[in-house]
Amino acid sequence: MKKQSLTAIILAAGEGTRMKSGTPKVLQQLGGRSILDRVLATTKVVGVTERVVVLGHRAEEVKKTLPKDVKTVLQPKPQGTGHAVQMAQKVLTKKTGDVLVLCGDAPLIRPQTLKRVVGDHRRMKAKATVLTAQVAEPHGYGRIIRERNDARLISRIVEERDATPAERSVREVNSGAYCFTLRALWQVLGKVKNQNKKNEYYLTDVVALLRKEQSIVAACNMPEASEILGVNTRRDLAQAAWVLNQRKLVELMNSGVTIWDPHQTWIDPEVRIGQDTEIYPGTRILGKTVIGKNCRLGPDVFMDGTRIGSDVCIRYSVIEHARLGDQVKVGPYSHLRSGTRVEANVYIGNFAETNRSWLKSGVKVGHVSYLGDAVVGKLTNIGAGTITANYDGINKHPTQIGERAFIGSGTVLIAPCKIGRKALTGAGAVVKPGTRIPPETVAVGVPARIIKKRK
Ligand code: UD1
Ligand code: CA
Repeated sequence: MKKQSLTAIILAAGEGTRMKSGTPKVLQQLGGRSILDRVLATTKVVGVTERVVVLGHRAEEVKKTLPKDVKTVLQPKPQGTGHAVQMAQKVLTKKTGDVLVLCGDAPLIRPQTLKRVVGDHRRMKAKATVLTAQVAEPHGYGRIIRERNDARLISRIVEERDATPAERSVREVNSGAYCFTLRALWQVLGKVKNQNKKNEYYLTDVVALLRKEQSIVAACNMPEASEILGVNTRRDLAQAAWVLNQRKLVELMNSGVTIWDPHQTWIDPEVRIGQDTEIYPGTRILGKTVIGKNCRLGPDVFMDGTRIGSDVCIRYSVIEHARLGDQVKVGPYSHLRSGTRVEANVYIGNFAETNRSWLKSGVKVGHVSYLGDAVVGKLTNIGAGTITANYDGINKHPTQIGERAFIGSGTVLIAPCKIGRKALTGAGAVVKPGTRIPPETVAVGVPARIIKKRK
């Protein structure tokens, strides 16, 4: 049998007024990506060959965020979901096969669910298949009215504001995701009228129109109702974030990661964590962070876009866009900023800040330090209160410290400057800009001067 083609239309032209935001609704962030981007990522996994996004409200802004292979069409004025789908018709006239129509504001539908919808659609030889779910709180959703003499089929969908009290009490709702046979969709879509409370052309009216022609309209009822959540308000957004997070935590726990308190842990969907790593409460791990095995993270760690080796221990700290090797210890209360690279066996204690700095293996930064634009050689000890003065108010300058050096407490390294290997600075030394302290020497005072060879 010839493989049928599968297209996707994603509706994203609405304004999202209920969100009360300066950002278009579909661009609201959820687990580090926009809601729309999450919907698009799902379509990619189910073997869709062409994707068309219907844009309207702040179209240019939304368009900029889309992957290059996505087509866009403009719906000049929001006139309803049916009208929005019509806008996509002109770029799909030559297409046959099936089409998935999805709402750009429903980011929780899983790829396997969409596969089921398409599978059911083809097996039932339906012209339309609606993804539905049984929910405890149907408020805001279209209600599914089943066919009286064949409960496998749907007779129509009624929007809440147009529903009778009896219809409103129906708990089976429309997810807003459908599979249509393209030809059948185009045949009836033009017949949709806007005679309803909102004077909009509802895509949902296609169901009754297809039934009038005796076409099969099937329902694919979802086991997990949380998947269909459409994000209309900030409360929905929080709910969606919660669902996505719980899903991720379960996935991680199933793969051998300990999460001590799933109510106080947030991990973005794209994060990867190795076996036997333990996550303590109050921890947030964001972006495309990758973490090795046997780490202990938290309590209260914030981590974004970071790559971490194995056997790493981090407590009460913030790590952003950094790379850490194996057996590193950090915290409590340190801040590793963008461009920090930390090799294996480094110890970073309390109240240290690093920025665009490279700490080679075995370095110790025990207490209250700032290292900016610095390279620190192997096994060097940075004494309490050491500061790189890397910024002269106009430019940033580098500091280089050789291996096995010993930087005394309270040393100020005014960049650019260079400390040789095995050199030592006395407590309170101030190394002036342009200075080079030779290897294996001892420098003390303000400004620092060399007093002897280091034994
Ligand atoms: C819609 C469905 C409802 C379903 C619910 C699921 C209709 C008439 N109703 O209602 O049955 O239960 O989704 O979440 O379809 N959009 C456009 N152009 C428009 C109008 C909407 O592109 O003219 C887009 C929106 O940007 C949004 C999606 O379509 O991404 C859904 O629109 P929305 O207004 O949120 O529909 P609901 O009232 O939630
Ligand atoms: Ca919606």
